[in-house]
Amino acid sequence: MNLKNKTALITGSGIRLGKAIALALADRGVNLAIHYNSSKKQAEEVQNLAKQKGVKAELFQADLSDLTAIEPFFDQVHTDLGQVDILINNASVYTSGSGMNTNASTLNATFSLNLFAPILLTRKFALQLPEDKNGKVINISDAKTFVTKKDHFAYRLTKYALNQMTRMFALELAPRITVNAIAPGIMLPLAGFEHIDMDELAEQRIPLKMTGSPEIVVENVIHILRQDFMTGSIITVDGGESLL
Ligand SMILES: NC(=O)c1ccc[n+]([C@@H]2O[C@H](COP(=O)([O-])OP(=O)(O)OC[C@H]3O[C@@H](n4cnc5c(N)ncnc54)[C@H](OP(=O)(O)O)[C@@H]3O)[C@@H](O)[C@H]2O)c1
Repeated sequence: MNLKNKTALITGSGIRLGKAIALALADRGVNLAIHYNSSKKQAEEVQNLAKQKGVKAELFQADLSDLTAIEPFFDQVHTDLGQVDILINNASVYTSGSGMNTNASTLNATFSLNLFAPILLTRKFALQLPEDKNGKVINISDAKTFVTKKDHFAYRLTKYALNQMTRMFALELAPRITVNAIAPGIMLPLAGFEHIDMDELAEQRIPLKMTGSPEIVVENVIHILRQDFMTGSIITVDGGESLL
């Protein structure tokens, strides 16, 4: 896909990985629907930076764990920016707890945001794309899906399912729309855990002895968007962590 003058919706693009993806797309001439839930100030900063790069950039607030909000949210994006060519399902909640510590409300909130919202957004995306146009969906998954552990029970389950959703939609939406996923390993410390020594973590847990960065995710997003003979793929970028 030629990226210039295309329009991308990136969920959760006010901060961190979503922000990096949004600004990298703006660098390549892509107009942005910048979605945020609570990070309004940060999203406005992304909007300003994107506009300085000469692209259109509009802000859209939505709590995507409220599934009734999804249709009006996507319709608003379409009304304000027109056809959406690229959908990046990035917003997610990293809920902790083993299975025995996961209750109904945690399951509900985690599945709604991490899995059901990407499904419903992908449907809306496919429905609005004219018959003669091509589109691209990228789901941001997690390399944790390639190993079985008992922590982050609900989160892991949603990302396992997101990988399978990627492959199922890739089949259903071909040939007009490609659907791929990126499964990152440790990229950024969690909010509240910035004190963690990332080098030490890498030394202990990652065969390549380094953590990732938003730039690595960005490079893979651009790689997926630029070529057209790839769908249903899940690109792992985790320094080999999931091999252990
Ligand atoms: N960071 C890593 O090392 C890492 C590793 C593996 C996978 N990943 C995956 O990469 C993606 C981005 O990770 P990250 O660390 O940048 O995420 P993050 O810091 O946890 O940010 C989460 C994003 O989701 C949005 N969000 C949270 N609750 C929401 C809700 N109810 N409705 C709508 N949006 C909501 C947030 O928006 P607001 O701030 O506006 O509320 C924010 O933009 C996620 O899918 C994550 O699973 C990240």
